[in-house]
Amino acid sequence: MAADEKKKAPEAGAVKTGGKAAAKPGTVKAKAAPAKRAPGTARKKETKPPAEAAPVEEIPVEAAPAEPELPTPRRSVAFIGSECYPFVKTGGLGDVMYALPRALVKQNCDVKVILPRYKCIPWEYQEKMVYRGAFQMDLCADGRSFYVGIMEYIRDGVVYDFIDNEEFFGWGNPYTNLVDDIPKYCYFAKAALAALNYMDWIPNIIHCHDWQAALVPVYLRTLFDATKLASARTVLTIHNLRFQGVYNIPTIRYWSGLPDYVFNKDALTVNWVDANMLKGGLTYTNAITTVSPSYAGEIQTPEYGESLDAHLRYHSGKLRGIVNGIDCDIWNPLTDRSLAFNYDASNALERKKENKRALQQELGLEADDGKFVIGLISRLTDQKGLDLVNAILPAVVDGNTQVVILGTGDARYEDSFRWYENAYRGSVCSCIMYDEARSHRIYAGADALLVPSRFEPCGLTQLNAMRYGTVPIVRETGGLRDTVEPYNMFTDTGCGFTFDRYDAGLLLDAINRAKTLYFESRPYWDGMVLRDMARDVSWDVSARQYRELYLQLT
Ligand code: ADP
Ligand code: GLC
Repeated sequence: MAADEKKKAPEAGAVKTGGKAAAKPGTVKAKAAPAKRAPGTARKKETKPPAEAAPVEEIPVEAAPAEPELPTPRRSVAFIGSECYPFVKTGGLGDVMYALPRALVKQNCDVKVILPRYKCIPWEYQEKMVYRGAFQMDLCADGRSFYVGIMEYIRDGVVYDFIDNEEFFGWGNPYTNLVDDIPKYCYFAKAALAALNYMDWIPNIIHCHDWQAALVPVYLRTLFDATKLASARTVLTIHNLRFQGVYNIPTIRYWSGLPDYVFNKDALTVNWVDANMLKGGLTYTNAITTVSPSYAGEIQTPEYGESLDAHLRYHSGKLRGIVNGIDCDIWNPLTDRSLAFNYDASNALERKKENKRALQQELGLEADDGKFVIGLISRLTDQKGLDLVNAILPAVVDGNTQVVILGTGDARYEDSFRWYENAYRGSVCSCIMYDEARSHRIYAGADALLVPSRFEPCGLTQLNAMRYGTVPIVRETGGLRDTVEPYNMFTDTGCGFTFDRYDAGLLLDAINRAKTLYFESRPYWDGMVLRDMARDVSWDVSARQYRELYLQLT
């Protein structure tokens, strides 16, 4: 079959559905505009004139801080990804999909986030969604047609458009197994583009996240090539290279309906027989980012490259790392409603002790704020270095130390941590669950947080920890290396304890160094707590870097 012939394949979905009367391209921009105002300042003064006719000159003009100048020019960005806090979150991707668009709004970007409308999204959000329209879209190689609904929800200047389809998203969890997930995310990638065309919202940039959205650039440059949307430039962010969306070629060819010529070794094909959705996206996208500079380098090596290192080296000219931040409004110990005691740097040392006692009580640990409490908040998978933790736990729990684990995942880790809780009752607590509020209380009440990952693209838990004055103990890999400066006892600088090789003995050594400082040189430890809290872990700097990238591309 001639490749050129195939290239001319009709743009399914997009063409079929374009130009409906319901499209209101202006709406989005109008909603995003209020972000220009500095929160809680000038508006109050405008809308509440003084009761009595006070002389104009007495109005304290200087009291109203100048509105921050938004950088120009404005850019429009469509974020496409498979999860987003607070609707659905299984890990850091959900945090980033929430926080980065908000930070970009402050950088004068007009942001729309496109997500699947999973059944598990809490009703409090479902009921606020507004119907934007619906159409039928061709998907599979045999032209099977599927319903695409668009439900919209706007919050803080960010527009969220949920792709609605019972057949694909009617399950409880976002991810089930590849047999179901491959068709689901083929559908999602194509439906996201078709929805943009349907709404006639043509962004400057389409920013896709992980394998679940990786077919977006492939669709854009093939089946959507003749639509208005093709003027958009694409960015594909790798949050975790371990997950790539790999399945046999016939299945992905059937479900995606993509032309034959994309199934070649430079695009989707791997090992002659399989198709790799992430690899295809990396080929067709205009820019690739990953979530820390160190990880951007690591994934070009066989050790961390997850079999795509050669492909990434080939595309290294368009690859760069931009480190994640966290949303400092959600992660703010002064206003965090989940905490027993709120605090900031002025009273952190005292209040953290009170939070520690509250946490010990909540978890059935011996209530004693003199104990060194180590937290671990994590998906319980091989990535997170839990075999190292398992190997050394008995040596860590020495009578003066307590360990709190919060996580779910592989049965072998869930079981071993349950076993440890039973063996060291009062000193170890294993919460095998996903609990957002409890995670906040652990960040606040623990002294140190463990992140001994085998690999870590960025990692957010160490950032949350520092924001809450909890000292990270991390392995020097990926984003952990880029965000945790090791403590130097000679200069009294740094913000955490680190170790390099993936080795249980080195992890134990790092924990012991932390304990030594905590028990023997408390003023230095306290200094580090305050340094951590003062660190800028916000999105500000990184959002500017994304904005620069968008400008370079357009
Ligand atoms: P990853 O995305 O690889 O899971 P990150 O460190 O980037 O790791 O992000 C993990 C996010 O998920 C953090 O916000 C962390 O607080 C949260 N988290 C992980 N496990 C749990 C859990 N069991 N309960 C609550 N929050 C959790
Ligand atoms: C991934 C990575 C994690 C990163 C997160 C958000 O899940 O494992 O390191 O922080 O994505 O980018």
